[in-house]
Amino acid sequence: MIGDNVTGKEFRHVSIMLDECISYLKVKPDGIYADATLGGAGHAGAVCAKLSENGIFIGIDRDLDALSVSRERLSKYSCRLILEHSNYTDIKDVLEKHQIESVDGILADLGVSSYQFDNGERGFSYRFDAPLDMRMDQTQTLTCYDIVNGYEFEKLFRIIKEYGEEKFAHTIAKNIVKQRENKPISTTFELVKVIEGSMPKKYVATGKNKAAKTFQALRIEVNNELNGLRQAVENFFDCLSTGGRLAVITFHSLEDRIVKTAFKEFATGCTCPKEFPVCICGKEPRGRLITKKPVIPCEEEMLENTRSTSAKLRVIEKIEPIEKIGKN
Ligand SMILES: C[S@@+](CC[C@H](N)C(=O)[O-])C[C@H]1O[C@@H](n2cnc3c(N)ncnc32)[C@H](O)[C@@H]1O
Repeated sequence: MIGDNVTGKEFRHVSIMLDECISYLKVKPDGIYADATLGGAGHAGAVCAKLSENGIFIGIDRDLDALSVSRERLSKYSCRLILEHSNYTDIKDVLEKHQIESVDGILADLGVSSYQFDNGERGFSYRFDAPLDMRMDQTQTLTCYDIVNGYEFEKLFRIIKEYGEEKFAHTIAKNIVKQRENKPISTTFELVKVIEGSMPKKYVATGKNKAAKTFQALRIEVNNELNGLRQAVENFFDCLSTGGRLAVITFHSLEDRIVKTAFKEFATGCTCPKEFPVCICGKEPRGRLITKKPVIPCEEEMLENTRSTSAKLRVIEKIEPIEKIGKN
């Protein structure tokens, strides 16, 4: 872990399953690799260290702080470096802009970085008092404040329940709406007060992190993290060369389910309903699952970095389309 200074704050982030990711990506020195979630360039640095001056590395992040610190950290490597402020869903546009047809490997380490969490001003954490922001992309207009003070009850309830899997979602949403009738909820601590006030006192007394699920839910909504994920995974897969690998790290079950389902479809091909006796869609497998089950951090990593405990890594390799095999 290295700490560089970004806008007066150290950019600290411990990369999850670093060795596993690098080994699964099978980096070729002259290859082309992309990191769709550059963050503090932890994984990216390990990839770039394996690339020669003929290799190309593309790093994408929608957080401007992440890009600025990564530019500095990666400048010592000899490969060609392309860093773009973009949403990873738009990876095809990024590659097209740089006239790159396909890549040999893509890594996506989803979610927020520790820097984003631990930088109180960004409003991601219930541990610091700050304006309700939570934007990964500082140029985006929608903030957590707009959601908390603008969304109608039903929508707030659904988000907190589905994205946060919070059992008190109904009361929390009801109390948010009630509270803002007097005065808008402007800060993280004001929101924590409403959340904790929606739970039985005895339950709140059992721990400090009772606002975590609601904060996770709001963060997912602010950053549209789940809606675009399926499309993003398809775009990543489309961008791979034959033999190229896609590695995705997820941090909660909702994300993992999307990745697992997409990978299964790439590796199965056929999308006919189960009850069809024979396949009529004619789709062939386009990928080979490298990790049949998700890889999780070793015990030592989980102990050293508690943020890694919910991480799951899945890897798929793009294969030659069946109709091409045997024609050469
Ligand atoms: C977990 S961190 C990545 C850390 C990185 N692997 C490292 O080792 O330093 C996730 C990063 O992905 C970025 N991110 C999340 N969703 C994104 C999206 N849709 N498009 C681009 N970047 C995204 C976040 O801003 C954050 O910097």
